[in-house]
Amino acid sequence: MARAAAPLLPFFFLLLSSTSPAANGQKNRLGLTPQMGWNSWNHFGCKIDEATIQKIADAMVDTGLAKLGYEYINLDDCWAAYNRDSQGNLVANASTFPSGMRALADYMHKKGLKLGVYGDAGLRTCSKLMPGSLGYEDQDARTFAAWGIDYLKYDNCNNQNISPLTRYNRMSEALMNSGRDIFFSLCEWGVDEPATWAGSMANSWRTTEDIKNTWESMTDNIDKSNKWAPYAGPGGWNDPDMLEVGNGGMTTEEYRSHFSIWALVKAPLVLGCDISSMTPETKEILSNQKVIAVNQDKLGVQGLKVQQDEDLEVWAGRLSGDRVALVLWNSGPTEASITASWSNIGLSPSAVVDAHDLWTDEVTSSVQGNLKKTVASHACKMYVLTPK
Ligand SMILES: *[C@@H]1O[C@H](CO)[C@@H](O)[C@H](O)[C@H]1NC(C)=O
Repeated sequence: MARAAAPLLPFFFLLLSSTSPAANGQKNRLGLTPQMGWNSWNHFGCKIDEATIQKIADAMVDTGLAKLGYEYINLDDCWAAYNRDSQGNLVANASTFPSGMRALADYMHKKGLKLGVYGDAGLRTCSKLMPGSLGYEDQDARTFAAWGIDYLKYDNCNNQNISPLTRYNRMSEALMNSGRDIFFSLCEWGVDEPATWAGSMANSWRTTEDIKNTWESMTDNIDKSNKWAPYAGPGGWNDPDMLEVGNGGMTTEEYRSHFSIWALVKAPLVLGCDISSMTPETKEILSNQKVIAVNQDKLGVQGLKVQQDEDLEVWAGRLSGDRVALVLWNSGPTEASITASWSNIGLSPSAVVDAHDLWTDEVTSSVQGNLKKTVASHACKMYVLTPK
């Protein structure tokens, strides 16, 4: 069934989002493209230890994922001991991380990888098994720097109802003063519209609640993140949460769509499965260099939902070299035909393009006016359109 699609957002919105609003505050120079890496939470939850994390790092290199740009190995909640030491320092949990964080960072750096840790802008982390950093921002940032930590995911639990601007800005400044470049991933769940204020503090900010391993949660997060597109750009990205690809709750086509749309909207590509035992299908999805290249395009323009007709959607975003990245998205229960009109995706009606399908590698040559394709249920097709 073919349907006439109504434009969802005016064309000028696409143009608007092509320039990133400059962050005015003092901030590091990291995150010029969305961060790529891995995080322990979606697969392992609190069950993390040194051997597991080293195995993940080994797999990152051995599977070839590291070469494709995945560089951060990030610990989530539960890596530290329940209490600070007698000097008030955070310390690694001695039974699960007996060699300590300095040694783990060295392990990563020797492999050409980077190490991230997790903290919380409150009294305790979400698991309550670790201290939070509220009131200890400078001390903890110095500790992270001394260990050689490269990335901080900073959560929002047990926050005493203190304004997030105050709490997150304190850690941002503490990291800036720590003497080390530490990527700052702000995890405030989108509660106080962080897109509007976090650009001067952080390299990415969560726009939604936690992702769940379902099609509904995944699409819901991407829809909620969409309206913040104009605030994303080199140095600061909207974060609809980490990837579930490979964790088993969705079909292969659903995971292919999940990865495609995360790439198009310049979301962080932070893997969340056990990459040391992934299936060939999972590896194929996570290793698609053309899709990764859309995510890492130097222009840094977040793709938008530009057409919607019930469950049939068109998402598009500008790429460098006057190219356009395009996703035809079918959230409906049956196969359907989806037509993307040039006027909705930032191309002039007379533009003639080659459409490169990033999953099949097929090229549809010399297309003009619109691109019409059949898309299976809970699947997408993803293209780069290159003007002739
Ligand atoms: C270290 O981690 C283990 C396993 O999660 C936990 O049982 C133990 O209480 C932790 N130790 C400290 C000191 O927090």
